[in-house]
Amino acid sequence: QTVDIELEAIEKGGYDHFMIKEIFEQPKSVADCLRGRLNAKNGHLHLGGIHDYANKIVNADRIVILACGTSWHAGLVAEYIFEEFCRISVEVEYASEFRYRNPIIGENDVVIAISQSGETADTLAAIDLAKSKGATIFGVCNVVGSSIPRVTHAGSYTHAGPEIGVASTKAFTAQISVLTMMALMIAQKKGTLSESAYRSLLVELETIPEKIAKCLDLNPQIEIISAKFKDAANFLYLGRGYNFPVALEGALKLKEISYIHAEGYPAAEMKHGPIALIDENMPVVFIGTKDSSYEKIVSNIQEVKARKGEVIAIVTEGDTDIAEIADHIIEVPHTHEALMPLVSVIPLQLLSYHIAVMRGCNVDQPRNLAKSVTVE
Ligand code: G6P
Repeated sequence: QTVDIELEAIEKGGYDHFMIKEIFEQPKSVADCLRGRLNAKNGHLHLGGIHDYANKIVNADRIVILACGTSWHAGLVAEYIFEEFCRISVEVEYASEFRYRNPIIGENDVVIAISQSGETADTLAAIDLAKSKGATIFGVCNVVGSSIPRVTHAGSYTHAGPEIGVASTKAFTAQISVLTMMALMIAQKKGTLSESAYRSLLVELETIPEKIAKCLDLNPQIEIISAKFKDAANFLYLGRGYNFPVALEGALKLKEISYIHAEGYPAAEMKHGPIALIDENMPVVFIGTKDSSYEKIVSNIQEVKARKGEVIAIVTEGDTDIAEIADHIIEVPHTHEALMPLVSVIPLQLLSYHIAVMRGCNVDQPRNLAKSVTVE
């Protein structure tokens, strides 16, 4: 018993929980994921595991992404990235829904299955089904040698290292990193991205680990904000474009570990329902970084403020418009909008962590949840 406890303390490397350790590992885990694959200086991008099959994606009619939970959110980010850079139509499916329909899928389709554990039963079954219909299956998994990588045609590991906390954090950022590299590689082969745009995205991707590190410096500020909201009964998370999946992921993190009811929504959809919930007791987290939806997000924030909602906004460093109207702002470094989820999700992970700790929750092993769901 004593040995177990001491071993666990060593594994946590001085942190109170695995989750916070894993959040803080992200500058390194993303760098590990990029290492040996990306070299922006000479325009080098190589994913060994998919290289031989890359033409399947280049020539695909459609990409179907299959995943569950946080991995499904990474899939949504990838949908925006693949459609934008590769001009291939993408559908993101919950593996559990896909497998029980009679899905339309065939030889010209490419499936990308995303899974941290590589063992999720629904994802495995969905892969089997797609494979039996002739689709080419790629895997994006973290656990080396797990089941999913063994049944796919090709794939890339995320190399984030072991993730122990049930709430996924570093696996998410590593999944997006791999999927971004895949999309850039395909875009270059397809010629759907100019050489200069491609080069500048490579440079930008290489800076992500240091930008994540800057977000981690915000930890004390986020802890103070968390204390203000720890007793809230509900939370709303809103974002647009690339930050819409981040809103979903922020809400999922909070409900998983703090048991506060939270919903993520595309900010423009707010007027079709969630706006009815807004009053002075509703904290609303906006992901409002500087991108092509910025002006729209500013007006969404005004709509919430007009109804007395309390706004916590993730903004780009130096932002002034949102700073004037939001109750709390958290400033993150600027990056290309397609890469912003890798940065903007970090404060949301920290917010959910601190709120859960302050509420006395077991953050590493939340009730009713499992790290890997191997039953349907
Ligand atoms: C469980 C975990 C989540 C995870 C999901 C998918 O619900 O608690 O953190 O996102 O499964 O898991 P996978 O291993 O397939 O990514």
